[in-house]
Amino acid sequence: MDFIVGTKYILIMLCINMINASPTTNYYNVVKFGAKADGKSDSTEEFIMAWKSACGSLIPATIYVPKGRYLLRGSNFRGPCKSNVTFLNGGTLVAPEDYRAIGNSGYWILFNHVENLVVSGGNLDAKGLGFWNCRRSGKNCPVGARTMTFNWVNNLVISGITSINSQLSHIVINTCNNVVVRNMRIIAPAKSPNTDGIHVEQSNGVTINGCTIKTGDDCISIGEATYNLFMSNIKCGPGHGVSIGSLGKTMDEKGVENVTLTNAIFSGSDNGVRIKSWARPSNGFVRNVLFQNILMNNVENPIIIDQNYCPNNQGCPGQTSGIKISEITYKNIHGSSATAEAVTFDCSPSTPCDGIKLEDINLNYNNKAATSSCKNIVGTSNGTLVPESCLST
Ligand SMILES: *[C@@H]1O[C@H](CO)[C@@H](O)[C@H](O)[C@H]1NC(C)=O
Ligand SMILES: *[C@@H]1O[C@H](CO)[C@@H](O)[C@H](O)[C@H]1NC(C)=O
Ligand SMILES: *[C@@H]1O[C@H](CO)[C@@H](O)[C@H](O)[C@H]1NC(C)=O
Repeated sequence: MDFIVGTKYILIMLCINMINASPTTNYYNVVKFGAKADGKSDSTEEFIMAWKSACGSLIPATIYVPKGRYLLRGSNFRGPCKSNVTFLNGGTLVAPEDYRAIGNSGYWILFNHVENLVVSGGNLDAKGLGFWNCRRSGKNCPVGARTMTFNWVNNLVISGITSINSQLSHIVINTCNNVVVRNMRIIAPAKSPNTDGIHVEQSNGVTINGCTIKTGDDCISIGEATYNLFMSNIKCGPGHGVSIGSLGKTMDEKGVENVTLTNAIFSGSDNGVRIKSWARPSNGFVRNVLFQNILMNNVENPIIIDQNYCPNNQGCPGQTSGIKISEITYKNIHGSSATAEAVTFDCSPSTPCDGIKLEDINLNYNNKAATSSCKNIVGTSNGTLVPESCLST
């Protein structure tokens, strides 16, 4: 009895203290701003009002989206903000049924110029089907919208979000520093065009951990000026794999440096780990990359470097890639290839790949050793090597 009375006393004192203390966070519930959880009423203005209030708060602020479906047109959540902001979603954000409503801006949900931002939870349904159908029909279509984009956001955490059926990429991290992306689920059909899962570009210090990505284009794609990207515990497939590139479309491109992918499973994807560049002159580079502890299940190109990218043979006749690829390590990669050739290194004749390392590779095709091919590449290998290494030393 004494113990219970004691506990009650402590709880009462705690409550009194909490009432007296000034709040450490301001809460902004979008429903209090008039957002409707019916999935039909346009709540864009109400979300923007909630954002503006939170962004103007002098103490850390949380925008809270309760359970329910909220219809949003293109939403630009713009900083700078006065304090840290958390966007906590317990509901589902849905795009309008008509793809043209968001398809002209390039963006559906956009966070812009914010420091210390957390975006967490909930579902994003961009309703991409109409847009994909438009593109497949060869009609004139709008440019399309990425589902959630971060531009110029520093100290960013994105977590626990499920994104389905984006028109284009699901999550885009562009010109951001110090980013953590974790526990994401990303889903779109294998045949949906250009639906990259997570795209990182012009960003430094990005960690992506614990994501399941099933989509129609790259699970994770990495563009120019990406430095210090660490990816772990990634499940990919269907999809086009984890791709550095396409790089080198233009002459003046920044490089990609310090990229790690560790502990990943690829299932039925078109590629596993890929580095891809246009067959065009460029000053760009890819260096210091580690792909390790990876299981391939029936993957078409488990390991591939393709420096001859030139869709429809347009814009690069007779040219070779200027992207310099060096210091790439492939370590402990095993499983099954869906094609006979599991390792393809097609490097640039003018700018060969070097410093490539293979260690403990075991990839089979139809329960037999797969094959490998090498062009313009220098490197070393050790440990188990199935297929045999074709690197020149
Ligand atoms: C704001 O967020 C940063 C991390 O991004 C943290 O270091 C800082 O303590 C936070 N500030 C407040 C007032 O909570
Ligand atoms: C890449 O990593 C190395 C070693 O940690 C570091 O010295 C270098 O500055 C990094 N490169 C970039 C562009 O941050
Ligand atoms: C491969 O070589 C590295 C050093 O370059 C060494 O640390 C590693 O143990 C070797 N692996 C095998 C399986 O021999």
